[in-house]
Amino acid sequence: MNLEYLSGFGNEFASEALPGALPVGQNSPQKAPYGLYTELFSGTAFTMARSEARRTWLYRIQPSANHPAFSKLERQLAGGPLGAVTPNRLRWNPLDIPGEPTDFIDGLVGMVANAGSQKPSGISIHTYRANRSMERVFFNADGELLIVPEQGRLRIATELGVLEVEPLEIVVLPRGLKFRVELLDAQARGYVAENHGAPLRLPDLGPIGSNGLANPRDFLSPVAHYEDLKQPTTLVQKFLGELWACELDHSPLNVVAWHGNNVPYKYDLRRFNTLGTVSFDHPDPSIFTVLTSPTSVHGLANLDFVIFPPRWMVAENTFRPPWFHRNLMNEYMGLIQGAYDAKAEGFLPGGASLHSCMSAHGPDGETCTKAINAELAPHKIDNTMAFMFETSQVLRPTQFALECPQLQPAYDACWAALPATFNPNRR
Ligand SMILES: [Fe+2]
Repeated sequence: MNLEYLSGFGNEFASEALPGALPVGQNSPQKAPYGLYTELFSGTAFTMARSEARRTWLYRIQPSANHPAFSKLERQLAGGPLGAVTPNRLRWNPLDIPGEPTDFIDGLVGMVANAGSQKPSGISIHTYRANRSMERVFFNADGELLIVPEQGRLRIATELGVLEVEPLEIVVLPRGLKFRVELLDAQARGYVAENHGAPLRLPDLGPIGSNGLANPRDFLSPVAHYEDLKQPTTLVQKFLGELWACELDHSPLNVVAWHGNNVPYKYDLRRFNTLGTVSFDHPDPSIFTVLTSPTSVHGLANLDFVIFPPRWMVAENTFRPPWFHRNLMNEYMGLIQGAYDAKAEGFLPGGASLHSCMSAHGPDGETCTKAINAELAPHKIDNTMAFMFETSQVLRPTQFALECPQLQPAYDACWAALPATFNPNRR
């Protein structure tokens, strides 16, 4: 199936899968076309500023309210509660894809988090691994989901339509949106940032101007697509971190028409207009921000999604890798493909690292020595896509993340090989 998409970010889109299914001139007529039910899907409080408000009107075969009570599932999310506090720098090898049948929900593993799901801010970060399509439908009452595939293409059937994504693309699903993740390849793996705070948006561009970084028209939302299926369907929700389910006698992906701006979307990271220095030094990594979730403190992000894409390095007389640094912000990094320019080895596609508030890090010894001695000519870093989920609140690993065999025992050693080069007699 060749999918159609609507292009733009934050737009008030309108889409109908049957001609005339969308009421004209009002949201909630006495009788909606085709005998559909009207439902409002709010992603923000009613009274938010217009520029912040997200909501979508749905015209559906059955209202979502038509469901029996939810019961707590025996099988809960993997990863367990948060583990012991640690200020240490941590790095993980990729988690294996399970051998037994595992869908997207069963394959989610909590890695780190900085807030309970009941808080209206903070993030949780998961890895997903799957080898079969979901037959259930899922929604997350605890936050918006930013999915970053590393292996395997996904077909995500949502209430508002169908999106297909592959590695090097991302998808964002609003809080509460019902969806089913199907696999287009034998297996899939990737990263999920669950955003409990303000919905992700494009960063302001300041002096950069009106173009650059991620451009609005490259964000794609689905067109309306519905399932008129009278078959038993399990609907699972995550609520305050727990999985609960109920049995429906129909598909809940039954929205025939909709209009609004509370919508899922995808974005191809290869379309990111990467900016950087053309003189010396390099800008702060905020220059690579794709999406941001702000806090109430201006400039302080609840979540920044930052990528390190292929790019030319041309800075003169400059230490070109990321400098050594200690930051207020907390950095959880992943790698989608290739190698990351600050690390010679040990940081693998599907793996992850955590550098918490004020933890000192930067290029490893090998990368540092090479960069100091390099002949500086224009050079393209290619075939790479690392990314960072950056947040202002400290991320704590789950018990699983601290105990799993993928946790590298000697990550600190990558900085131990830095040679002593100080010589007070030679400037
Ligand atoms: Fe960093």
